[in-house]
Amino acid sequence: MCGIVGYTGSQKAAPILLEGLKKLEYRGYDSAGIAVLNNKVIEVNKVTGRIANLCERTADGKNCPGTVGIGHTRWATHGAPTDTNAHPHMSNDGKFAVVHNGIIENYIALREELIQKGYRFESQTDTEVVVHLIEMYYNGDLKKAVIKTSARLQGSYALGVVCTDEPEKVYVAREASPLILGVGVGENYFASDVTALVSYTRNAIYMDDGEFAEITPDSITVFNPAGQPVEKKISRITWDVGSAEKGGYEHFMLKEIIEQPRAVKATIAPRIKDGEIILDETELTADYLTSINKIVITACGSAYYAGCAGKYAIEKLCRIPVQVELASELRYSDPLIDEHTLLIVLSQSGETADTIAAMKECKNRGATTLAVVNVVGSTIANTADFTLYTWAGPEIAVATTKGYSTQVSVLYLFALYAAKKMNRIDDKLYNDLLECLKTLPKKIQEAIDMNSAISTLAKKYHGVDSMFFIGRNTDYAVALEGALKMKEISYVHAESYAAGELKHGTIALVEEHQPVIALCCNEAIMEKTMSNIVEVKARGAEVLAVTFKDNHKIVSLADDVIFVPKIEMIFSAAVEIIPLQLLAYYVAKENGCDIDKPKNLAKSVTVE
Ligand code: F6R
Repeated sequence: MCGIVGYTGSQKAAPILLEGLKKLEYRGYDSAGIAVLNNKVIEVNKVTGRIANLCERTADGKNCPGTVGIGHTRWATHGAPTDTNAHPHMSNDGKFAVVHNGIIENYIALREELIQKGYRFESQTDTEVVVHLIEMYYNGDLKKAVIKTSARLQGSYALGVVCTDEPEKVYVAREASPLILGVGVGENYFASDVTALVSYTRNAIYMDDGEFAEITPDSITVFNPAGQPVEKKISRITWDVGSAEKGGYEHFMLKEIIEQPRAVKATIAPRIKDGEIILDETELTADYLTSINKIVITACGSAYYAGCAGKYAIEKLCRIPVQVELASELRYSDPLIDEHTLLIVLSQSGETADTIAAMKECKNRGATTLAVVNVVGSTIANTADFTLYTWAGPEIAVATTKGYSTQVSVLYLFALYAAKKMNRIDDKLYNDLLECLKTLPKKIQEAIDMNSAISTLAKKYHGVDSMFFIGRNTDYAVALEGALKMKEISYVHAESYAAGELKHGTIALVEEHQPVIALCCNEAIMEKTMSNIVEVKARGAEVLAVTFKDNHKIVSLADDVIFVPKIEMIFSAAVEIIPLQLLAYYVAKENGCDIDKPKNLAKSVTVE
């Protein structure tokens, strides 16, 4: 998805903008550009393809004098990825340049209106209407022009604007698209993502919907939609620069897989004190929890699959119905949600458009909302009634790994916490499960250590056309995420099935040498999954089984076996997923794929 950055200060702007854009590369993009203001003239450089091309064109920014500028990485939505459609976009009089994240939904009507008034359009983008509206409304006061322009826009936007008449200033505006201001000394910044800011400042202001801001080297003033100044809190960014960089690993994805024990520990350990789970960021009291009649979990993609894994733990321990719903479906389903529903919203980025919309829909129907989010100050975190952060640190690879395992870990904590509050668990079981949960980071580390040879196995399983992932119950939840990991980064068609469903149709597809990844960590129903392994073997499948250490029953059935450490069944998803993440990674590597930036995908899906 698109990314924006901006700078005003006394240093050369272009190198800072380019560095910021490089930090946003992980979000996925197809073109990039910068606009720098120098001597009351705006110089724009934009290119299709990588930021490296932009660096080459501008000699790493050295060829662009000027200390104020804006930059953008574009992920095409309206119009092909071309130099012309890349941002920044200029006004016809050359006075304004604009960068934009999001989608202007009423751009066709605005475009027609502006064309009739004589404005000339260069691109096919929705964004270009913004710069011409500003030009139309400008009469010497940029602030007023931004207010009037914002009032005409429907949809989502994070905007950055520069103007030759106000050469030290940058204007920004936000509606339903992330925007963060970086507070410096004698210089200030903005970006759509804190990763672009951490090298320069740790002091950040998170903008809210409807707000806009005037940024100079020495001041930041944030305004409400009516143009009145609002007090904003300066938050401290705790992510370190190192964790936003590769640190010697070939890919961010591998680094982030390896970081999971630390990420899960950082997420759960501070919330366990003196034998109790403390979720003091929430007000989920015993009275409240016993007043609800169901829990709905909503999310997209891997976060949705994290919800599927969490459902088993919550239902098992709390004995309350848990529905897991795709956010893009829930929002349009006229959902049966009221004040007796607790809605749990899972999102790494906190900015996924469908998840935000589903959450708002459910909030309007009376649900209490609990967000599980990684990015501090993100829209979902700010909109929810309560937020439990996953302390995974920045996740850069497009395919989530530590985002997923930390989400699952928070659901485990929640399950145990709620069961205790609701009086659905005895002290002995609570204490035993809590002790087990504390070992989760260690078990994840063991799962990583036990699978260092998975790269060899990937040599056997790469280059195939399709794979099936099967499992039952908790194993099925992991199969869903395992298949998604495989398809999104290695481009191998991978499907997951509840193992018992195979014989209801899918088994027709199983032929000689068809790879089937069989998840068998759930002891209670292992015999059943083993029968399914026998069924697919009988049709010639090549079976790679994942099971817990020392389970030798499977060895004689499967062609290959991956072991993971044994852990309480309801907590096993966070451990079991590790070898599947590694397998997807190494198969993708064998297939020669761009692992951190898979084709057609973006890190943060901020459009519907
Ligand atoms: C897959 C992946 C996506 C995200 C999904 C939701 O590896 O990363 O499926 O899980 O786009 O994103 P968040 O969690 O940011 O809401």
